[in-house]
Amino acid sequence: MHIETYLGRSDLFTGLGLQSIERIAKQFKSVQVKAGDTVINEGDHGETYYLIATGEATVLKGGGISQRELGRLGPGDGFGEMALVADEPRSATVRAASDMELLCLEREKFIVLMDQEERFAQRILRLLSTRLRQSNQVGTLDLLRAHQGLIISLAELAESRDASTGAHLYRVRDYCTLLAKHMSADPRFKSQVPPEFIEAIYYVSPLHDIGKVAIPDRILHKQGKLTEEEFELIKTHTTIGAHSLDTVLHYCDLEMFRMARDLVVGHHERYDGQGYPVGLKGEDIPLAARIMTIADYYDALRSERVYKAAFSNEQTVSAIREEAGKRFDPAIAEIMLAHTEEFDEVHRQYAELDTPPDKHAQY
Ligand SMILES: [Fe+2]
Ligand SMILES: [Fe+2]
Repeated sequence: MHIETYLGRSDLFTGLGLQSIERIAKQFKSVQVKAGDTVINEGDHGETYYLIATGEATVLKGGGISQRELGRLGPGDGFGEMALVADEPRSATVRAASDMELLCLEREKFIVLMDQEERFAQRILRLLSTRLRQSNQVGTLDLLRAHQGLIISLAELAESRDASTGAHLYRVRDYCTLLAKHMSADPRFKSQVPPEFIEAIYYVSPLHDIGKVAIPDRILHKQGKLTEEEFELIKTHTTIGAHSLDTVLHYCDLEMFRMARDLVVGHHERYDGQGYPVGLKGEDIPLAARIMTIADYYDALRSERVYKAAFSNEQTVSAIREEAGKRFDPAIAEIMLAHTEEFDEVHRQYAELDTPPDKHAQY
């Protein structure tokens, strides 16, 4: 097929007029590439713009073990313009996924074309701004995934000391998220629970007992009743955990990590002021911690422990009703009690699986 036919199919050149396209087509050269060949290499200096006539290519970022696919390109797609316009090294590697025919335009010719064809220049600019936006999004997403991965692995590391609790972290995460979702629809909490709050509690709730890493095994795994002194030591898991979150906040003061600190330090506070470590009362206890307390309690009762059998949903629900206004914020308890079957459903989901079903699922 003639080069101008291919150009006519590309978004960059449509509507340019036959004469212009014929003139531009003369500047392009056709090149055959074999499947598996690298067309451009990330970091290289860019000298050519490419338009795919036939075949497919993969866009890759990074090298070695961290190399990942950013996307696929097919007939009509162009690539390589970024390095030409911005005079920067290639931002990604492009490799032929099948045998391909590529139409190539050298840098000088590309620049002249930008000068001569206003429409072409406008489209290239629009393309560049889209690419820029996409590459920023990719960076942010990578960063977000890195945060999530680190948070959950840290929480698992702390939890691994306490083997009996199984999927506790994931269940508690889901209970917190479920509660927050229902709260966001309740006029009493609506303004305090925007979508970002729900997202944040999903990610950071597994961290609540992170401070337990500092509690000695002989106390953490003790089968009998704890002495007063031992209990005092257990209580410090809240403040020790908060201390490590302070370190995180020192480097990265994100709302999400502030919430993590709130629930790490506050998840054993009680609404009636009888909790620890501070004895905060009522709404002085941060909201995330008030949610966490009820989620943690529900899960503790539903789970079998060395010193007790697992409670049924009904037994647990009546224990929570009993504790509303004492241990728990009565308004949050009321919302939870209106949706107990959903909590039971989460519990059952995890009971049927040895490993969490959706480590990477969205909340
Ligand atoms: Fe705790
Ligand atoms: Fe817990």
